[in-house]
Amino acid sequence: MPNNLFRVCFIGDIVGKIGRKAVQQFLEEHDGEYDLVIANGENASGGKGITPRHLEDLLSFGVDVLTSGNHIWHQKDLLAYMDTYPIVRPANYPPNTPGKGSIIWTSKDGLKIGIINLIGRVFMDPMDCPFRVADEEIKKLKQETDFLLIDFHAETTSEKIALGYYLDGRVTAIIGTHTHVQTNDIRLFPNGTMFVTDAGMTGSKDSVIGVDYHIIVEKYLTALPQYFELPKEGEARLDYISFTLDRQTKQVSEYKADHAYFL
Ligand SMILES: [Fe+2]
Ligand SMILES: [Fe+2]
Repeated sequence: MPNNLFRVCFIGDIVGKIGRKAVQQFLEEHDGEYDLVIANGENASGGKGITPRHLEDLLSFGVDVLTSGNHIWHQKDLLAYMDTYPIVRPANYPPNTPGKGSIIWTSKDGLKIGIINLIGRVFMDPMDCPFRVADEEIKKLKQETDFLLIDFHAETTSEKIALGYYLDGRVTAIIGTHTHVQTNDIRLFPNGTMFVTDAGMTGSKDSVIGVDYHIIVEKYLTALPQYFELPKEGEARLDYISFTLDRQTKQVSEYKADHAYFL
């Protein structure tokens, strides 16, 4: 690959042990193929948050930066380390929330990539406006970065697409997360920003968004609260978005949304 191209892989929400193992298998298979690997890790430990140990495991498999979302707070041990690890949480949480909403990742040859995490407000907990916080983050990062990538962790397709158009031409790529279902709408917006509504999930293939489907079916049949458990074994599905950044044009040149299965 010509060296003006920089290859990025974004892995959808990693859910539990099956998801973590799939990431390891995928990155072993694709060893050396990507210059930057980003993964959403909000569900990596038992579906709820991520422990420092599991975060270190993912880094050792080849993940460079983790993004997150509403579930990131479940593993309390992580809070003390959120500033030191390459992990971001949504930038539009209240001021003084632990961790950071954006990070600048630098490649071995000095390329600076800003990664911003935002969370939606429709059918989710109330937060600061992701549109206006995006403006602030872009203003803060754009002078010192070559590319800006956003993980917009949100429930509704409309809120994600609207943010996409709002930021079109001001950031390099916007990748949605949180629904755990990959959407078939990856594209370039009119002013060049790459957009996909949802990257999908990395976890049990036969599950309801990562959780044992028997439990979720029972929940819908009975309307009774259920204790959510993840499947302990079985096939994994890993959803990902891969794209190349052109160092000269400062834009995305190739892109795809794909998935892989692992036993
Ligand atoms: Fe998630
Ligand atoms: Fe989420």
